[in-house]
Amino acid sequence: MTKIRIAIQKSGRLNEDSLRILKDCGISIDNGKDQLKASSRNFPMEVFYLRNGDIPQYLRDGVVDIAIIGENVLIEKGEDIAVAEKLGFSKCKVSLAVPKAVKYDSVKDFEGKRIATSYPNTVKNYLKEKGVNADLHIISGSVEIAPNIGLADAICDIVSSGSTLFKNNLKEVEVMLKSEAVLAVSPKISEERKLVLQKLQFRIQSVLKARQ
Ligand code: PRP
Ligand code: MG
Repeated sequence: MTKIRIAIQKSGRLNEDSLRILKDCGISIDNGKDQLKASSRNFPMEVFYLRNGDIPQYLRDGVVDIAIIGENVLIEKGEDIAVAEKLGFSKCKVSLAVPKAVKYDSVKDFEGKRIATSYPNTVKNYLKEKGVNADLHIISGSVEIAPNIGLADAICDIVSSGSTLFKNNLKEVEVMLKSEAVLAVSPKISEERKLVLQKLQFRIQSVLKARQ
């Protein structure tokens, strides 16, 4: 049977839970920790360990057939890519936050402000909808430091436990979206691999039911 090619996060929050759900589906993956590609012994699957932000493009190009990825990344970079299943883990929000000491009334307060973020499209769309113009500074990580070093007035980033906001003296003022891990599908997946996807989805659905 043709192997389905799945992308999962190389390292970070989704990595462990993604491997766990495959394992719970009875799929064993031979895992050399430093390998970027691995195969399953008992399911027609190849696993590619990739950077989160690159995964939407790999799906679009059909270099991988499916992926376990945060919805937030798809909303930011892959609105054209279909979601087959919500997976119920890695829940988080994408939020706007300001320094604790700042008085905050409404989203209009962001007018003319500098916002540091790794989610420019998400912020742009959100503020556009609210009729607010702000100045975005795109940075790829450690976003919450930006107000403390004078780079920005506010930030937009993922909030999970809230501990990063807390440690950096920031407060969440707008929740732009809620996200969880999903199984995303390449628009270029072949008919043959769709059959493997069906098998996988059947197993995932049983696992999710059992977890309830
Ligand atoms: C992520 C995200 C937030 C934080 C949210 O950063 O960018 O900063 O986690 O989680 P929390 O609400 O539980 O604190 P990460 O630690 O992955 O590092 P990075 O921003 O440098 O990529
Ligand atoms: Mg961070």
